[in-house]
Amino acid sequence: MCGIIGYIGRRNIVEVLISGLKSLEYRGYDSSGIAVLKNKKILRHRTVGKVVQMESTIPAEFHHFVVSKNEENLVGIAHTRWATHGKPSEENAHPHTDCKQKFVIVHNGIIENFIEIKNKLTKHKFSSETDTEVLVHLIEEKYKGSVLDAVKEAIKLVHGSFAFVLISTYEPDKLFFARKDSPLIIGLGENEKFIASDVTAMLKYTNKFIFLENDDYGIVTIDDIKVYNTKTTALQNRNVAVVNWTAQMAEKAGFKHFMLKEIYEQPQVLRENITARVFGEDIVFNDEVKFSSAQLKKIKKILIIGCGTSYHAALVIKYLYEQILKIPVEVDIASEFRYREPVLSKDTLAIFISQSGETADTLASLRMVKENKILTLGVCNVIGSSLYREADSTIYIRCGPEIGVASTKAFTGQLICLYLFGLYLAKLKSILSEQRYQELLNSLYKVPSYIEHILADTSYIKQLAEMFYMKKDFLYLARGINYPIALEGALKLKEISYIHAEGYPAGEMKHGPIALIDKDMPVVIIATKGSLLQKVFSNLEEVKSRDAKVIALTNYGIESKSIDYKIVLPETDEIISPILNVVPLQLLAYYIADRLGCEIDQPRNLAKSVTVE
Ligand code: G6P
Repeated sequence: MCGIIGYIGRRNIVEVLISGLKSLEYRGYDSSGIAVLKNKKILRHRTVGKVVQMESTIPAEFHHFVVSKNEENLVGIAHTRWATHGKPSEENAHPHTDCKQKFVIVHNGIIENFIEIKNKLTKHKFSSETDTEVLVHLIEEKYKGSVLDAVKEAIKLVHGSFAFVLISTYEPDKLFFARKDSPLIIGLGENEKFIASDVTAMLKYTNKFIFLENDDYGIVTIDDIKVYNTKTTALQNRNVAVVNWTAQMAEKAGFKHFMLKEIYEQPQVLRENITARVFGEDIVFNDEVKFSSAQLKKIKKILIIGCGTSYHAALVIKYLYEQILKIPVEVDIASEFRYREPVLSKDTLAIFISQSGETADTLASLRMVKENKILTLGVCNVIGSSLYREADSTIYIRCGPEIGVASTKAFTGQLICLYLFGLYLAKLKSILSEQRYQELLNSLYKVPSYIEHILADTSYIKQLAEMFYMKKDFLYLARGINYPIALEGALKLKEISYIHAEGYPAGEMKHGPIALIDKDMPVVIIATKGSLLQKVFSNLEEVKSRDAKVIALTNYGIESKSIDYKIVLPETDEIISPILNVVPLQLLAYYIADRLGCEIDQPRNLAKSVTVE
């Protein structure tokens, strides 16, 4: 978590750094800070709270200096924080400096052995509780005339994850950097360079990027980049990638929140993914899935790993693949998977789902699986991310930047890609009948326009939000392939509105949660057409007879006196329905949170990209 940015060039440096930070705020937003070099001195400003707080209190001396005079390069760094070590306070906010104010650093990650290092730096004076401050003092300690050598020596001693950018009065025309298990990307401009945690911070100025690799460190100057790697002595050659995202894609485009914009982008995301891969009756993954047909035909088991919303996508896919591929599918939360002792067999395909491609636990699980020589497939929204580079093959979910912390379009993007991949495998393995394959493909084609239909009139969902926004608890129930959608609906609500919500398999409710039900408990139940509808109805009666208020997702023609409020959805094939059913639940959470006046795009305590375990 935490967002970092550095700049060297001749633009208005304060504007570049602050606008970059604003697009990184999804990574953390409890405090922020900026540092620039002026007359070989470090000028630093930090505040608690969001970037606007820092921006609005920035001292005048920064403004005198923002535009380069006499062709002089301006150099600076900035940071938006998600606290790990030390509470959000001005002292703990980055950038951090050494004792003599010769170095200043911004860091994303966790230095796990910081106490051990701190105890050895007995002569140094620390002014924060952070792990990061130890790093800058260690670099000060190691400095013997070359900043790069000091960085190199320091990173040999630190354990944990880091992406950092450092500037120094000793060598003022340079940005020094290093990364290990946290993302860091260099942006290339004409006579200027950027370095940040995410491309979105740099899209205004460039679409050419170098995605640094694990253990890279080096120097960025106005006209040169030198990348080294701790694993070798040779200078590294890193490719330049062109990212087809635009700065506009990372703006709200008239929507009140990014989350709402992203919910409304879903039909387009689904269409793009379908159009890119479906040609007539054929589904094509040529450039993405590099495994041979022979390798894919040999697969006897599928393992799917993710966190948060990506884990919920994995659960939906388990139901789908077991049904259409007839092979066992195991799903796990990355932070659990990596610390159990999973029994892995060679004929497994391991799929890793991650919007950001940088979630620490998901990456650790990927590395663990790769050690066992098992085929790995990433499903990811960020080209060049760690998952994208490290998995044997990666499916790109074509969502454009997702900024809202609560994931929406990435979820449906992950689903559509994995639905198409499932159908592709089913055809390859000749498992589904031609007719069923065609039926499912046709149903997938219709999903974007069905979602457009839901989005065209959300007034009823807004009314429900108005009726229920004061409730303290919600229960979400569903069965079968929609059970993960109940989990996702509950997660969306708790993430952005802070209302307690639980998703539960409807059939399991009588083994516990039913005790919670009374007249004050809203129960959201997914009762769309499908093989388990009668069973869902029985559960609905059980809930209703305990006086719950029942909000049901249903289709036309489904009637029950026990439903108090009906959200009627277009009818689709049961196994396609999760992609559709999640949308009204995203909207319900959104409108409830909006009614409560919550910070929807940046909910408290959360960060979008969880790069620490
Ligand atoms: C965080 C975000 C979630 C996201 C999860 C996994 O918790 O707040 O929205 O689902 O991380 O992120 P990933 O990038 O791996 O999909």
